[in-house]
Parts: sequence; structure tokens; C-alpha cells
Amino acid sequence: MDLLKGKKYNIITFGCQMNEHDSETISGMLQERGCQETFSKDDSDITIINTCSIRENADKRFFGTLGQLKKLKEKNPEYVACVCGCMMQQQHIIDTVKSKYPWVDIIFGTHNIHRFPQLLEKVYGEKKKMAEIFEDSPEIVEGLPSKRLYKHKAFVNVMYGCNNFCTYCIVPYTRGREKSRSPEDIVKEIRTLTGDGVKEVTLLGQNVNSYRGAGGNGKFYDFADLIYMINDIEGLERIRFMTSHPKDLSDKLIQAYVDCEKLCNYIHLPVQAGSNTVLSRMNRHYTREKYLELVHKLRKAVPDITISTDIIVGFPGETDEDFRETLSLVREVEYDSAFTFLYSVRKGTPAAEYEDQIPEEIKHRRFDSLVDAVNEGSARRNALYKGRVEKVLVEGVSKKNEHTLTGRTEGFKLVDFKGDRDLIGQIIDVEITEGKTFSLAGKVL
Ligand code: SAH
Ligand code: SF4
Ligand code: F3S
Repeated sequence: MDLLKGKKYNIITFGCQMNEHDSETISGMLQERGCQETFSKDDSDITIINTCSIRENADKRFFGTLGQLKKLKEKNPEYVACVCGCMMQQQHIIDTVKSKYPWVDIIFGTHNIHRFPQLLEKVYGEKKKMAEIFEDSPEIVEGLPSKRLYKHKAFVNVMYGCNNFCTYCIVPYTRGREKSRSPEDIVKEIRTLTGDGVKEVTLLGQNVNSYRGAGGNGKFYDFADLIYMINDIEGLERIRFMTSHPKDLSDKLIQAYVDCEKLCNYIHLPVQAGSNTVLSRMNRHYTREKYLELVHKLRKAVPDITISTDIIVGFPGETDEDFRETLSLVREVEYDSAFTFLYSVRKGTPAAEYEDQIPEEIKHRRFDSLVDAVNEGSARRNALYKGRVEKVLVEGVSKKNEHTLTGRTEGFKLVDFKGDRDLIGQIIDVEITEGKTFSLAGKVL
């Protein structure tokens, strides 16, 4: 049992908050067994690469990093290289890892993270390589430890998997079908977190709007019900969630923004495209008109709500006219911020088989004009904040300047300001002195 004691591990995480949170769990399990975290792979006994497969460049970065581990293995034969995460749920990737990167000791997937310490003990005890990928199953393993990345905010999974099968997306294949945790398990976890000083939780799921958790009383609870329950947790100050799919955003959830003072006035509402033809080929199940109506309803109910989105350019078959509709939607909504992506072919997804793929050069041209439109909107919205006083959760010292602190407003805007490090972890009033394209500047009141 002591085989892992004192070993130093390093985790390299690619991808979304799901993966970041899985890495926190991996870290928690290893620390429970006496391992210590190190932030350099050169100094570690064990490296774990937690992979993402959302776009091709994520795959490329993984293989680049994996190549670097060979040297470490050559220097130290006891060194253990592990790979996990979304890429490992795809057989063609596992085959490539096994054939081209023979120094990898452990391969595991997204459904069997809880098994990782046992696999590691086997590798140390029996000196052999392990590959264990679980098929998706309806079961949820509860009660795993977690070593949190941040002291005052935490991620909490409310559901796993995705049933939507957007035609471009790999996630339903790497994360399996939707399953919701019970509301009691979620509330219990958040109570423990608040007891430990956490002020803000981000509820995670690929589509939190389709949350349907079975309560101990045999009743089912939807996502809005869950928010109302969490809003009652003493000590908790802020609730966020991501991601919500426009097709299932209910009036009840919009009402929860009005009723629940802890639910932050912020929503990430991925639109993906502004043309109905493209939305339909993406299998998104909403129209441009329906999306705009949602934005209108949200802003009517919660006037100061901030809205961010995800947009893909160059989806197969996207015409100039389709793209202009995306641009006009972006101008009409005027997002606070947006993540913009070049469409990337994902093996095994329906859109990868579509014949009308868009040439890279056109994709890039469209991407650049989209980014300009998004930035104009963000700059305009941020400029409106000048002179306002915002509640900011102070998150830490700025990466750019050690004399500056950074934090997030309720609307998830990043604010830089001068202040004492003691403020880290507190929610304080900050007067905004300048609204820039990507952030705000302010002064502590
Ligand atoms: N479940 C979330 C999104 C998860 S992936 C949702 O539905 O909103 C995050 C974003 O990556 C997506 O919103 C989409 O904009 C982008 N994305 C997914 N697959 C992609 C692909 N093949 N090419 C380019 N962008 C992609
Ligand atoms: Fe992917 Fe669509 Fe599911 Fe989001 S909702 S994870 S984009 S399939
Ligand atoms: Fe990537 Fe998997 Fe998240 S593919 S975006 S890490 S769910």
C-alpha cells in the first residue's frame, strides 16, 4: 500500500474545466496516498498528461508533450509516464500511443479515473504497463478526494457526459451519455467546500440545462430546482455554471437569476453560428430567432447580465452569406466576450464526413473579421463600466505585474487593481476606472 508514498507527481492538463476538475481529483487521490505534487515534469517520478480532443491543435500539443517524456524515461527507468482524458477514449489514438510512444506506462480514460491509484500501484509492484479504458456506464463514483487549484472558488460537477451530438463535436464520444448526480450529493459537497473557505462554486456539465437529478425522496429535480437548493447554502456567496445549451434554457432558470441572490448575473450561452442553415447542419436544435429571443428575455429579466459565447467559423458548407449572418448576430447581441474557433475536423463525428469542407484560407479570413466584431462589442460593453462600483472576488496577484491584484466581477469580468495581498479571497468593492477590450481596471474603495 505504501508503494506510492513520497513519489513526486506532475499533472499537465489540457482542455476544459471538466478536465481541470478531473486533474484535481487525480491530485487528491495521489496526495491521499502520500504523493507530493511538483510543478515541473523534469523533477517528477510520475507525469500524468490529461488530454483534450476538442480540436486538432489540442491533439498536436499532446503528442508534442508526450515526445518530451522519452528523455525522462531514459534518464530514470523508474519514471512513470501516464496519459488519460478525452483523447484516450478513442481507439485510434490509443493505437498511436502504443505504437509510437512505447515509453508510456499507463493509459486510462475518462470513466475510470477512480482506478488510477490501483493502476499505478500495479505498475510499481509488478513492473508492467497498463492500459485500462472503461466503457461508459450509468454509475457515478462519489466521494473521491480533490486537491483544489484555488482556495476560494471550486468546480463542482453536477452532471457528466453529453447527449446532444452536435455534428462537429467529439465530446459525446469521449465523455459518454448524460448522467446527473443526486442533488443531495451536490449540496453535501458544496457544504463541505464552504466549510473549507470556498465562496464561489462553478457547477459543471456539458449541458447543465438538461440536469435531472434523482432526489432521495424519489422525486426528480431540474437545474433551476438545483440552483434554488444551492442558493440556500450558508457561507456560499456566488454560484456560476457552465455550459448551458440554448435549446434547453428554461424560463424557470431565467427566473432563478431574479430570485437567487447568489446566482451571478452571467451566462455563457454558446451560439456557434448565426445562420439557420448552419445551425441545423450542426444539429443545434434552435434557430437564430430563438437564440435572440433568449438573449432578449435574459436582458429583460436581468438588465445587467453579462453574456459570453462560443462561435465556430468555417463549418462545412458555410457560405459567405451564412458567415455574414454570424457577424450580424454578434453585432446585434454585443457579447461581453466570445471564444472563437476555426472549425476542426474530428474523426468519428458526422461533420468530418461532409464533403463541402471550407478551405483554410477562407476560414482564417472569416475568423479575423469575426474577432474584430467580437472585440468591438466587448470594448463597447466594457467602456460602460467606467465609474461603476463592482463587487469583486479577489483571486490573486496579476501574472503581468506583481504589484497588481486581479479578481472577477459578478459578471465574470476580469479586473486589475492595486491592493494588499491580504485581500485575496475576499469579495470587495472596486470602482472601475477604465474599461478595456478584454478586462477592466479599477481602484479599491
Ligand atoms: N458543451 C459545451 C461546449 C463544449 S466544447 C456546449 O455545448 O456549449 C467548447 C466549444 O468548443 C464549443 O462550444 C464549440 O464552439 C467548440 N468546438 C467543439 N468542437 C469543435 C470543432 N470540431 N471545431 C471547432 N470548435 C469546436
Ligand atoms: Fe459538444 Fe454539443 Fe455536447 Fe456541447 S452540447 S459538448 S458542443 S455535442
Ligand atoms: Fe476537451 Fe474533453 Fe473538455 S475533449 S474540451 S477536455 S470534455
